[in-house]
Amino acid sequence: MKQEMAGAYILGIESSCDETAAAVVRSGDETLSNVVASQIATHQPYGGVVPELASREHLRAIVPVVRQALFEAKQTYQSIDALAVTQGPGLAGALLVGISYAKALAFALEKPLIAVNHLEGHIHAVLLEERQKGNRDLRFPVLALVVSGGHTHLYLAEQRGESWSYENIGHTRDDAAGEAFDKVAKLLGLGYPGGPVIDRLAPHGDPWAVKFPPSKIKHPDRKTDAIAQKAQKGGARRSESRRRFDFSYSGIKTAVLRYVETHNMALAIEPRRAALATIARPKIEDYTANCDKQTLDLVASFQRAMVEDLVGKTLAAAREYDAATLFVTGGVAANNELRRAFEEEAAKEGLPVLFPSRPLSTDNAAMIAAAAYPKFLEKDFAAVDFSAEAGLALK
Ligand code: KG4
Ligand code: ZN
Repeated sequence: MKQEMAGAYILGIESSCDETAAAVVRSGDETLSNVVASQIATHQPYGGVVPELASREHLRAIVPVVRQALFEAKQTYQSIDALAVTQGPGLAGALLVGISYAKALAFALEKPLIAVNHLEGHIHAVLLEERQKGNRDLRFPVLALVVSGGHTHLYLAEQRGESWSYENIGHTRDDAAGEAFDKVAKLLGLGYPGGPVIDRLAPHGDPWAVKFPPSKIKHPDRKTDAIAQKAQKGGARRSESRRRFDFSYSGIKTAVLRYVETHNMALAIEPRRAALATIARPKIEDYTANCDKQTLDLVASFQRAMVEDLVGKTLAAAREYDAATLFVTGGVAANNELRRAFEEEAAKEGLPVLFPSRPLSTDNAAMIAAAAYPKFLEKDFAAVDFSAEAGLALK
């Protein structure tokens, strides 16, 4: 009865990386609570996520985080209609904490449990907020760039009943874009995570000071080439005869390292790292006070090169696949320059581009609860024996 009257209340749980999160979302379009416990402080001394520590922190946080999400949503364990949890991709141990807890809770409460792909979650973060704004008209196909610390994927999405279906038309061959931001920041002694710091520092430098060669994909995707030849002969699926748009970001990271070495910048890095480590929450003035012009220019140029590559490839893919709407989501979608460049370039082509708000760009559980709603409607519930899949693909 309640479902028809008041919508479906889904409790989402996310623990795939370094954020323990829980949220309650009503019918995929209204966020009632969205609680995120960040582990940044735990991983900061190591300059990156330590998987064992992540699992331990999830174990510590999951019960209070879920309680807080229910409390803020004015819900109880009994009043929710279903639970949703991230199945993958992510760190296996970290995923298992969320999954074990969600399974136990669903079993005890006798409520359905829905397994959600983390990448679909990032895509649904955009949808959730568009619906919240009253925008329910979406033109397909949607091209979604999911760009985060672990992923750089391009998906072509179509609607299929209540759900969406996805085709991967590009991914990174090596580092994810967020990983490149994190590694460059670490290399320059700027701390972890690197994306937000580089985002704030870049406007203080000259983005044209350092020229990086455009990233090249060394080995063309032979499988796709073979499929393309076959498709041309036999008239296979539309996209099989089209180009892929892969990314590669380990080259630019190495180019930054080379620049640091050849310009004798190493001497300034250790004192900067040490100085910033003494400040609990460094402000932008703390960063600029510890960066010379050469460093600021390098940071700005690195960001420009990253943004140019992401925007250039994504818009080329949008043209190739006749995308009607563009989504840009995931942690790196929080980047100011990336948003500005996407808005400017997509407008030139008359292509609507949608981003999540910044809190929904990075990992959260509202996106997991939102992505679960179509599955709830289709009664696509998780089997009791489902488990974490660190490398889960999105289809
Ligand atoms: O989506 P997310 O929270 O976790 C993953 O699924 O990976 O993304 C985290 C990543 C990190 O690499 C972080 O440096 C990057 O997103 N990031 C940013 C910004 N905010 C977060 N990168 C560039 N600019 C930002 N403002
Ligand atoms: Zn993510």
